[in-house]
Amino acid sequence: MLPLRWFRVHVLLTCILVCSNGAIAAESVQFNRDVRPILSENCFACHGADKNNLKGKRRLDSFEGATAERNDIRAIAPGDPANSDLWLRVLSEDDEERMPPRDSHKTLTSVQKETLKRWIAEGANYQTHWAYVAPSRPAPPAVKMGAWPRSDLDRFVLANLEKQMLTPAPEANRTTLIRRLALDLTGLPPTPTQVGAFLADTSSDAYERVVDRLLQSPHYGERMAVDWLDAARYADTNGYQVDRDREIWAWRDWVIQAFNENKRFDQFTVEQLAGDLLPQPTLNQRIATGFNRADLLAIRPDGEGDVTDTHVAWRTTKGAPLTPSVVVAGDELYGVADSGIATCWDAKTGTVHWQERIEGNYSASPIVAEGKIFFLSEDGVGTVVKAAQTFEKIATNKLEERALASYAVADGALFIRTAGHLYRIGRR
Ligand code: HEC
Repeated sequence: MLPLRWFRVHVLLTCILVCSNGAIAAESVQFNRDVRPILSENCFACHGADKNNLKGKRRLDSFEGATAERNDIRAIAPGDPANSDLWLRVLSEDDEERMPPRDSHKTLTSVQKETLKRWIAEGANYQTHWAYVAPSRPAPPAVKMGAWPRSDLDRFVLANLEKQMLTPAPEANRTTLIRRLALDLTGLPPTPTQVGAFLADTSSDAYERVVDRLLQSPHYGERMAVDWLDAARYADTNGYQVDRDREIWAWRDWVIQAFNENKRFDQFTVEQLAGDLLPQPTLNQRIATGFNRADLLAIRPDGEGDVTDTHVAWRTTKGAPLTPSVVVAGDELYGVADSGIATCWDAKTGTVHWQERIEGNYSASPIVAEGKIFFLSEDGVGTVVKAAQTFEKIATNKLEERALASYAVADGALFIRTAGHLYRIGRR
């Protein structure tokens, strides 16, 4: 049963964290567990896969990169820290030499330095990323309190307690147990009735049956989805200064459903990354790709606001008329400010091809159809211009009636909804 496996993985991870927390003195250094986190946090930004940020022409994320000889220098001489530039750099007292550099605001602790040294001394073995290493079942460790473990997993926990000269705490009372279990699996405390039933159930698998019941609860998926949604930055708004609403709850519900349905992890990830590219994708597989859209969105239609340079190819100058929204036609962008100033920009460069005042006040975006741009003002003035880099007015129409925001073009005719009527405006 997969949910159970998820649950176990969770426990196992906690165990691994606890296990790797302690001194690693006796065992040999493992790259993925002990070294990668240090290099990744402190070095890879400048010595990793990102070509644009590579410093000192030195990659440290592979054995080949780290051991390659340049100008008689090797960052790592396996088995020989004293001849490894990396080790000398890490140790150096000289601000010009020391790594990580002062201006990176990163420093290594003495334990981290010692780990790097031991890793080099032991041959500087790299491992592929743990995600690509097939898991293998380790032999459960030997323990002194042989009667305590009820499962192999317990043996791992106990082995580490014993290593740290700790003894397990006595088992909690049953009220506490069911409360912990319910919070862990559903995020909600048990009801008094559920506690009562558990206390009254003296069968040997009473606990397991509570686990099964909780795994069947629709709240199980909600609880499990929390971490995933956090990591994927799920939110109901865009996340920047001008924090507009975003509707992406359909994907949130997809994630919850995926946990409740026990969806396999490979499908869970494939559908979220590229569900729309699967053969004949279902609506749900498309919804799954909401994952890709859950990031921060920094664009404001008026081009101002908290946008970082990396996002901005161009933006309108301060004081330029603000257009509520724009349309794209060919290589051009068209918009109209509420005051009636219509603008045509070059979509790539932001160069203004033309800017003209048209009659009316505008709150709706222009629309593009059949090589023309249609503007409709709040007070019912329709203006049609050629979609082109030069301003050419084709027609103006006055309805003398307030227009509602929505309008459409089809078959050469303009359809306009006003407070009182629906108009079709076409050639005589
Ligand atoms: C903010 C960027 C930055 C970070 C982070 C950084 N380095 Fe560097 N590193 C540089 C630059 C720039 C150079 C080239 C200038 C120099 O040699 O001092 C360099 C050079 C080196 C070199 C010598 C180049 C060679 O030919 O081998 C080594 C070794 C090195 N770094 C190791 C590290 C290690 C280990 C870490 C992490 C503990 C680290 N660096 C973190 C920027 C960085």
